[in-house]
Amino acid sequence: MRLDKFICKSTELTRSEAKKLLKMGDVRVNGEIIKNAAAQVHENNSVTVNGESLTARSSRYIMMHKPVDTICSNVDEVYPSLLHYIEIDKAFDLHIAGRLDADTTGLVLITDDGRWSHNIISPKKHCAKVYRVNLRNEITTEKSAELIERFKCGLQLQGESQLTLPAVLEILTEKQVLLTITEGKYHQVKRMFAAVGNKVVGLHRQQIGDINLDVELGEWRYLSDDEVNSFL
Ligand code: URA
Repeated sequence: MRLDKFICKSTELTRSEAKKLLKMGDVRVNGEIIKNAAAQVHENNSVTVNGESLTARSSRYIMMHKPVDTICSNVDEVYPSLLHYIEIDKAFDLHIAGRLDADTTGLVLITDDGRWSHNIISPKKHCAKVYRVNLRNEITTEKSAELIERFKCGLQLQGESQLTLPAVLEILTEKQVLLTITEGKYHQVKRMFAAVGNKVVGLHRQQIGDINLDVELGEWRYLSDDEVNSFL
């Protein structure tokens, strides 16, 4: 982890206050003065500020049920960041592991552990995400087997050179499906249904890996150790 981040994590200081201390030569790592805010430190390094030893606060892991008209970003844009819902100390030091569109609801995982979130968002990890999708056009019984096969074989999305990875489509009703995908391209679900001539009119993420959404809209909770460990 970056040294300035380590200092913020283990004190009440902001990133700019931590940088000031570093510039002044007040920070030592394993006894040596370090002024570079980007220097990497590990939890077993000894970090002191003005001779006082720092211990990094342990990482935080959260699930949240995202409402519509919020964004998965640390800064407010047209809509507010969903981090406003997490009323804990330094909530804006957290980041979101796998974004949802402003009009999508459902499971969002939030943390300050970059290595953990990497296991969720890296395309190489093939982490499964399950979406409940409401569609504009009906999927008729005659067409359903063919559609399931098309999602399984991979779809050609507009602007992409490669087919999508195999996805599992489960038809719940004529206009509602469950879709499991293991990648996270921009607007992927909406583009997949556009590729088969349909349109997503409602999108909700209910599962990431083994973690199932179980809090009410707009609410959040810390993950259990088992849930955290499922991505390690
Ligand atoms: N795919 C989309 O199109 N939108 C989302 O929010 C998530 C996946």
